[in-house]
Amino acid sequence: MHPDAAEILITESQIQNRLDELANELNHHYRGADLTLVGVLTGSVMFVADLLRRLSVPLRLDNIGVSSYHGNTHPTGEFTLTKALQLDIRNRDVLVVDDILDTGHTLHRILTLIRQLEPRSLKTCVFLEKDIPHVHNLKPDFVAFKIPNRFVVGYGLDYRERYRNLPYVATLRPEVLTRPTG
Ligand code: IMP
Ligand code: MG
Repeated sequence: MHPDAAEILITESQIQNRLDELANELNHHYRGADLTLVGVLTGSVMFVADLLRRLSVPLRLDNIGVSSYHGNTHPTGEFTLTKALQLDIRNRDVLVVDDILDTGHTLHRILTLIRQLEPRSLKTCVFLEKDIPHVHNLKPDFVAFKIPNRFVVGYGLDYRERYRNLPYVATLRPEVLTRPTG
């Protein structure tokens, strides 16, 4: 375990087993569809990569980049588009894949943006869903794991851009979260 980690909430093998199930669901749901998978940068990279190799339906891959958390554990309320979609998604079946649904502000804004591009269908798939109410009563269509309202890192998720490479999901030791930036 990483020395900065306090507790592993989801192990590497739990993640990989759950992804097998989730990919089965998606393969069934999107059978015969014209899927465009849209990964939300950067936190979804591991999730997208692990899902992709399990998906057998024909698909295209794009990424959207947004920034809403500026290296902190608390949202600033700001939202900037850092990477626009490259593919035309009009009349396509779009699945937005994100790392975590926390307050829901990020996903809600992304969905509003994508809806304007007139996809045929628009669904969401999140790796983690925090056990708190989300804005606009947002409900993800596909969820890998539900977790309690804790700040977690690993499997793509960061704290100040660190720990994305951990293959499991963990909480951080309190002294790491109060350490001055550096
Ligand atoms: P929301 O807009 O509050 O739903 O936050 C979504 C974004 O905040 C995610 O895509 C993450 O980048 C970040 N985030 C929220 N909770 C966590 C966490 O526990 N660990 C790391 N990043 C988080
Ligand atoms: Mg993110």
